[in-house]
Amino acid sequence: MTPRISLNLHAQSERMQSVPKLMFFGDPHGDLESVVTAVEHCRPEAIVLLGDIQARQPLHIELSPILDLTEVWFIHGNHDTDSDTDYDNLWGSELADRNFHGRIVDIAGYKIAGLGGIFRTKIWDPRRPIEEAAFESSDAMRRTMKREERWRDGISRKHRSSIFPVDYQRLLRSGPADILVAHEAPSAHPHGWQAIDELAETLGVQLVVHGHHHQNIDYRATGMQSAAAPFRAFGIDMGSHLAWPLDSQGQLESDGLPQDLLDLATQTFGAEARTWLDKPHELLNGQTPAVFAAAGGLDKVRSMLNAIQHGGVV
Ligand SMILES: [Fe+2]
Repeated sequence: MTPRISLNLHAQSERMQSVPKLMFFGDPHGDLESVVTAVEHCRPEAIVLLGDIQARQPLHIELSPILDLTEVWFIHGNHDTDSDTDYDNLWGSELADRNFHGRIVDIAGYKIAGLGGIFRTKIWDPRRPIEEAAFESSDAMRRTMKREERWRDGISRKHRSSIFPVDYQRLLRSGPADILVAHEAPSAHPHGWQAIDELAETLGVQLVVHGHHHQNIDYRATGMQSAAAPFRAFGIDMGSHLAWPLDSQGQLESDGLPQDLLDLATQTFGAEARTWLDKPHELLNGQTPAVFAAAGGLDKVRSMLNAIQHGGVV
């Protein structure tokens, strides 16, 4: 259930000289520190946040250390409408126009389609025909509401992160695109949706990246998606990221981590090595071992792995 680590020395040395064009970050849920650290280290051309951002201050302030280093784009998630603060720190931020929900934008040389939010049956259950949706658009919903029922003279805050048919259909007709970024997962996920597959296939994308489920999933590597599937798909966990494009071996970037550390992680955790490297750790101030090591903390991460291998509790 995890992106693989390349153990190819030649490929690794090539990667260490290259800068990723794109990095996709799993749901931050308020922790933008790991995003800042990873961008400062990897210097990608652009980054995409996959929703559930819940910035504790306006997003442009949280990301101010990297705004001159990379281009920031995002989609929203269901939790971005949990509170007025969550909402205002995103939609009221100076980066609000970088929310590309419902449209296709050119990012680092790719045409990327964005579908933020989640499907809510009170609006539209995508397992049912689109004509049966309760509300076609937020405007249609607003018109049914009394003034006192409205939030800031519009629909409720909660449903501002619901997917409305009109937004989905507009995106469907806006193709082609290279990549689809969605908060919801494609149908290969147990809680995913055929509607995401149909959108990806209509747009002709080669890649789908999603958040929401807090899992690192390489759908092809885990057999959840066949090699013949029309697009590759990845789920990205909170605190993790995916660098794109993949290396010449078709494997994931290893963030310039030295080979001995990757080997040590693989010896310690086997197939779960990447999961451990990409999971925030309390002994590393909540950063992931990969980011912490890349930012100069190699020795500490090595000693943690050695301690775990030799029976220590870390
Ligand atoms: Fe979510």
